[in-house]
Amino acid sequence: MSQDNRTILVTSALPYANGPIHLGHLVEYIQTDIWVRFQKLRGHDCVYVCADDAHGTPIMLRAQQEGISPEQLIETVGQEHRADFHDFHIDFDNYHSTHSIENRELSELVYQRHNEAGHITTRTITQAFDPEKQMFLPDRFIKGECPRCGAADQYGDNCEACGATYSHTELKNAVSAISGATPVEKDSLHYFFKLADFEPMLRDWTAAGHLQDEVSNKLNEWFEQGLREWDISRDAPYFGFRIPGTEDKYFYVWLDAPIGYMASFKHLCEQSGRDFDAYWGKNSTAELYHFIGKDIIYFHALFWPAMLAGAGLRTPTAVFAHGFLTVEGQKMSKSRGTFIKARTYLDHLDPEYLRYYFAAKLGSGVDDIDLNLDDFIARVNSDLVGKVVNIASRCAGFIYKRFDGVLSQTCVETNLYQDFVNAGDIIAENYEHREFGHAIRKIMALADRANQYIDANKPWVLAKQEGQEQTVQDVCSVGINLFRVLITYLQPVLPRMANAVETFLNIPAMKWDDIGTPLTGHAINKFTPLMIRVEQEKVDAMLEDSKDSLGNTQGTKGAAEGPLKDDPISETINFDDFAKLDLRIARISKAEHVEGADKLLQLTLDLGGETRNVLAGIKSAYTPESLEGKLTVMVANLAPRKMRFGLSEGMVLAAGPGGNELFILHPDAGAEPGMRVK
Ligand code: MSP
Ligand code: ZN
Repeated sequence: MSQDNRTILVTSALPYANGPIHLGHLVEYIQTDIWVRFQKLRGHDCVYVCADDAHGTPIMLRAQQEGISPEQLIETVGQEHRADFHDFHIDFDNYHSTHSIENRELSELVYQRHNEAGHITTRTITQAFDPEKQMFLPDRFIKGECPRCGAADQYGDNCEACGATYSHTELKNAVSAISGATPVEKDSLHYFFKLADFEPMLRDWTAAGHLQDEVSNKLNEWFEQGLREWDISRDAPYFGFRIPGTEDKYFYVWLDAPIGYMASFKHLCEQSGRDFDAYWGKNSTAELYHFIGKDIIYFHALFWPAMLAGAGLRTPTAVFAHGFLTVEGQKMSKSRGTFIKARTYLDHLDPEYLRYYFAAKLGSGVDDIDLNLDDFIARVNSDLVGKVVNIASRCAGFIYKRFDGVLSQTCVETNLYQDFVNAGDIIAENYEHREFGHAIRKIMALADRANQYIDANKPWVLAKQEGQEQTVQDVCSVGINLFRVLITYLQPVLPRMANAVETFLNIPAMKWDDIGTPLTGHAINKFTPLMIRVEQEKVDAMLEDSKDSLGNTQGTKGAAEGPLKDDPISETINFDDFAKLDLRIARISKAEHVEGADKLLQLTLDLGGETRNVLAGIKSAYTPESLEGKLTVMVANLAPRKMRFGLSEGMVLAAGPGGNELFILHPDAGAEPGMRVK
């Protein structure tokens, strides 16, 4: 059963530091964590590193909106990400940030080596520029009308209404989504990575078994289209690393992001004494694997190996791409409540349910995987609670009460036990090849056999008969031993449960090879419930919490954004209570999107001389354009409130259940900004 000891380094893609971890992300982190735990359980030296991807325009802008520095933003989000991963039992050996010293040094090193070798070139390009904000605008920050169908509010390069793709210069009435200003065209010098220099090397590498078949096929299409130069620079203002030898050019976030894998590992080396070069040097014999989503294959299967090779470093052993998560057969959607954040899930459900469900559905390919909630409940309850835990709960009580917790001196069902152990080879092979679904199916088939064995021998009947003491102990001891084998196989998927089982069985940390010998004459502890059933109500509550409603924005509940609910009118207040409210007529002089906020619009309210900045949860019902110039009613003496996206100085009044059914109050004609509402 045992194999040579391998040295393995594993990464998952680095999540962006401008948003919360959601269940889609977790497909990847859970998949990787299971694989890593499996390798460790087999006794290999396997290290798992990751980091937050902290650079880029969206992060810079979101920090500005919130009135904090990008460093503060990435620190806060970094903490949230770490907590989410920790609570889902994702066990990184190191979790770092791309905004780190190690990453700066390594990015500069990689760049310098390419520059010296002539793989970097410069040329002037023309781009959209926001004259108000004084910055170049990536396509996603330009909005306008589709040149083909005329749909309003379309982003820089494609129309969501008709599917047309175009250049931002073709958009009609284009505006900067940041300032509302009309973009102008402006020249600037950019730095390019000459990817085509690496074409021969990449053609060999991508055909040499480092990629899944469907991924190599995709790459062949890309080769046919020709490898274009890659723009690796961005102009200031930008949150990232300045390019050495320039004043105001920064590395594009995707240049330093994969180098972040190395940087996180380097940071680990500094603490653990591992040898960086033994992993990343050209002659490294360590295995290196990157787990990624299918949307970022180009970066990992072309740019990344080329960057490594050109810098005189080793290339990956393999890149493993997975598909996307759908919920109830559809893309995750905020309005349907299926955009489920890791934290919202954790507020209601046990993380091991999801780990198990994803494992049961994951394979080695790039197919999307669907979270069907009825199926989720049924599978977890029938497999984990109904089959696996059931084996132990049927046997443990007898051993504990009648035999002082001591198992029989021999495991009497030698053949049955050996069958369970033998199945480990193929289960291990399934894990190794990321066919987790196949592994789970085999483990559950074994669980069925264990239950059949107990059903056939009926310890609860024997326990009432004279002279059957030994048989009761033997049957239950076999049950417990089979259970131990199954939990060892499930340990990568259910680490917390496996830990509880170690306590229950009074055994040291499980190792795959330990199951070769059954537990005999061994004292176990009292059985405590290992997992409770998934309840429909908890799933419903999680979905409800995920709905795109007021008062539930990005986990922050701000005064200015509700909660506006259709509560029955209950308590009365006296006139003095009412008089405390300073309600004023306000003109919405400006309305803008808030970068990164799903529900908020930023309103500039004119109170007739005084202006107020209010963050209002009305984005799902109004476009900024439709609000500008309108009169409304605001609570002017609400204490200012620091929200995640900035300071809100008051609240506008609206009626309705929320979502797109929300109606701002407008005064009759003649009212003027600043008038008191009485
Ligand atoms: N920051 C980049 C990765 C840089 S790696 C050097 C990025 N970040 S991300 O936050 O958008 O995504 C992180 C990982 O999660 C990616 O591998 C991505 O494919 C994966 N997923 C994000 N949404 C997903 C689903 N809905 N379903 C499955 N995986 C998803 O890309
Ligand atoms: Zn269109």
